[in-house]
Amino acid sequence: MLLAYDSLTGNVRRLAQELAGSLDIEVVDVRSHPPSREYLLLTYTFGTGQVPDSTRNFLDQHGHLLRGVVSSGSYHWGQNFARAADVIAVRYGVPIVAKVNKGGTAADRACVLAWLREQNGYGTLD
Ligand SMILES: Cc1cc2nc3c(=O)[nH]c(=O)nc-3n(C[C@H](O)[C@H](O)[C@H](O)COP(=O)(O)O)c2cc1C
Repeated sequence: MLLAYDSLTGNVRRLAQELAGSLDIEVVDVRSHPPSREYLLLTYTFGTGQVPDSTRNFLDQHGHLLRGVVSSGSYHWGQNFARAADVIAVRYGVPIVAKVNKGGTAADRACVLAWLREQNGYGTLD
């Protein structure tokens, strides 16, 4: 399992880096690297509750390796809060691991880390 992230203004990138600091796990930017194996996607919500084009393009090519999704958004967007996760989860049949406001909280990170550990048992994350 690895982390694949998409970030425009840095919130999701920081979240991905903080998660990687807690686990020995590879992190790739969807805009520059293809995933070498199955991954958890971390992305953000754009437009009005939409999946960013860069994430959509990545999933068009690598959706078969997607295992779960985390979406960032802002509470300001009400019912469209972090809606990219809903769209992706339905389209690819994967779980929504978390929806986070901006870069997320310590509780959000703990939730994602627990899910990652669950995927690989409690040993190393290959
Ligand atoms: C033009 C624009 C549209 C946005 N639309 C939404 C939205 O529909 N729902 C939502 O929850 N957040 C929305 N956001 C907030 C971003 O998803 C949020 O700031 C996120 O943390 C950005 O992640 P990043 O810093 O990694 O790019 C929007 C932000 C911008 C600039």
